[in-house]
Formats: sequence, C-alpha cells, structure tokens
Amino acid sequence: MSVLVTGVAGFIGFNVARALLARGESVIGIDCVNHYYDPKLKQARLDHLNTTHHTAFHFERVDFADMAALNVALAPHSFDRVVHLGAQAGVRYSITNPEAYVQSNLVGHLNILEICRRADVRNLVYASSSSVYGKNQLPKTGFSVDHRVDQPISLYAATKKADELMSETYAHLYRLPQTGLRFFTVYGPWGRPDMAMWLFADAIMKGRPIDVFGEGNMRRDFTYIDDIVAGVMACVDNPAPDDGAAKAGGSISPHRLYNIGNHRSEELMHMISLIETSIGKKAVLNLLPMQPGDVRDTFADITAIQNDLGYHPTTSIDEGVPKFIDWFKSYHGL
Ligand SMILES: NC(=O)c1ccc[n+]([C@@H]2O[C@H](COP(=O)([O-])OP(=O)(O)OC[C@H]3O[C@@H](n4cnc5c(N)ncnc54)[C@H](O)[C@@H]3O)[C@@H](O)[C@H]2O)c1
Repeated sequence: MSVLVTGVAGFIGFNVARALLARGESVIGIDCVNHYYDPKLKQARLDHLNTTHHTAFHFERVDFADMAALNVALAPHSFDRVVHLGAQAGVRYSITNPEAYVQSNLVGHLNILEICRRADVRNLVYASSSSVYGKNQLPKTGFSVDHRVDQPISLYAATKKADELMSETYAHLYRLPQTGLRFFTVYGPWGRPDMAMWLFADAIMKGRPIDVFGEGNMRRDFTYIDDIVAGVMACVDNPAPDDGAAKAGGSISPHRLYNIGNHRSEELMHMISLIETSIGKKAVLNLLPMQPGDVRDTFADITAIQNDLGYHPTTSIDEGVPKFIDWFKSYHGL
C-alpha cells in the first residue's frame, strides 16, 4: 500500500517522499504549490521526484483545506499510512496573514484527520513545531514534550498546538494511531527561502547586509534535514501503540508527541560565521531587536524519541552548513 505525503512540494515533505521512494515505497503526494515562497523551487522539487521515481510517485495538486476538492483528488488512490507535512509555515508571516494559518493548519488538519478516519489509515505522522513552547522558560535539559505548552506567542504556534489537540481527540474517538513531531529549525539542501540560513546565504553572496534579530543573541537547535527524515521514517515504521499506557506527551490513546531536534542549542552568530566561512565572504550585520512572535532560545529534549525509537541525530551545524551552502550554490548555478 502507498503512503500519502502532504506538502510534498515543500522542504520536509519532498525529502521524506524521496526517502520513502528510495526504499521502494509508492507515494501519493499532494500540495497546492502556494506562493508563500518561490513556487519555482517547489516545482523543481516535484520535477526531481517525477524524473527520479516516475512510476512510484503520483502527484495531485490540491488544497487540502478544500474538502470537496480533496475527496476528488484522493478518490483514485489507496493508502494506509499518511505523513502530513503540508501547512502554512513561518512564525513571522502569521502576524500579518493569520487567515492562511486557519485555513491550512486548522481546517486542513481536520480534513486530513477525517480522510484518515474514513480510509481506516493505520498510522498518521504529522508536523507540529518547537514554536509551541512559546513563553516557556528553557530548562537546562531543553524543552520536553512533558512540559505544559499553554502560552503560544504566535498564531502559527497556536494552530500547531490546536492540531495536537484535534489529533488527540481522533486518537481517542477513532483509535487512529498518530505521532505529532515538534521539529526544531530544520535546514539543509532543498531548504526554505524564508528561513534565516537561506536569507543570510543569499545576502552574504550578493554583498547585502543581513537583518539579525535579537541583536544576534538568539540560540537555535538547528536540525539537519537528513536527521529529520530519519526521525519521520522511524515514526512511519512504528505507529503509536493502542495499549492504554501513557505515551510521550501524556496521552493514553494511540497518540504520542516527540521533539525532533539536534539536542544542541547553537548561537545564531556561530551559524552566521559558518556561512561566512563556507562562502568565503564576511557578512555585513544589521542588528535589530527581537521580532514579535519569535522565541529567543530553543533546545530540544529528545529523550522520548531516543528511548522509544532509538533516534540519534548525527549532523552538527559545522558539517551541515557547508553541505547546505554547496547545494545552494549548485541550485543557483554558481
Ligand atoms: N522547516 C522547519 O524548520 C519547521 C520547523 C517546525 C515545524 N515545521 C513544520 O513542518 C512542516 C513542513 O514544513 P516545511 O519546512 O517543509 O514547509 P514548506 O512551506 O516548505 O512546505 C509546506 C508545503 O505545504 C503546502 N501547503 C500549504 N498549505 C497547503 C494546503 N492548504 N493544501 C495543500 N498544500 C499546502 C505548501 O505549498 C508547501 O509546499 C510544516 O507543518 C511546518 O509547519 C517546519
């Protein structure tokens, strides 16, 4: 049976689809290919999947917030596992465009749950976000899925927390096995043009100043895309059990929550220096205050996924940033 991957033209969806196809799975990918960032990059990802795995990959362009259209798009396909990575991402955009988040992340998430319930799907893995930790104090051991997360500081974070709650209800009512993944600042080849690493690389190459928020005093748990994919695949292969025992995140239904991070909180300025070294050019810094909605420091406690699934991230930013820059140059023909 096939795997349905939502957001397949996106950064993580594309990389997960590629890994599933590479091990011989058949993938049905859906995406609306929206214009939140350059759709040419999304199309390039789709072209890559189509040319490399043309018989096992089936793409449907559809908005999953539109249930009628989603039903039509999925009618010819059958699948038993779903990896739901499509969403309106980005903290800052949610300040100016809240409606996009309600449509894709709330209505869309509910639609995917309904699709799973009706198709009797046996495993749903979906994306949440480290942003749910919002105003939480950062403990020395990192943010844990066992901490309460009741103070989101962006609408983006609020929609991700709401997704976790909707999922919990479906796990309870319909015994739909689910894993919600709180990703921590994902980067790497085929990455996102709206995220800091891409913006910095682009500006440094062109000799433009870079906007560094929080006056550079920010820390992020940067997670390399291959480590994210490894974590997603482990969850695809190991559905949450329906055994009545408490799971990571506290549910006694077949629903668990995991952080996927690198378990290293890195100084933003260190990340910038790695980009400078990889490009061979100094950045011109434009130091600015914190932006509304941004969390100052992130650090993932990954004990739960380590203990349950043996998850073990292997790529430090010292290795990962040069790999991203190499890809960035080749993508732009530099
Ligand atoms: N990249 C990160 O650092 C990060 C961190 C935390 C959480 N996440 C979450 O991980 C998931 C994947 O993120 P990403 O970095 O690949 O983002 P992305 O923006 O590259 O990919 C999301 C894809 O979803 C598609 N999409 C959005 N709304 C849709 C809709 N209504 N119908 C159909 N397709 C729709 C977009 O066109 C896009 O291709 C998202 O849920 C995101 O919120 C990402």
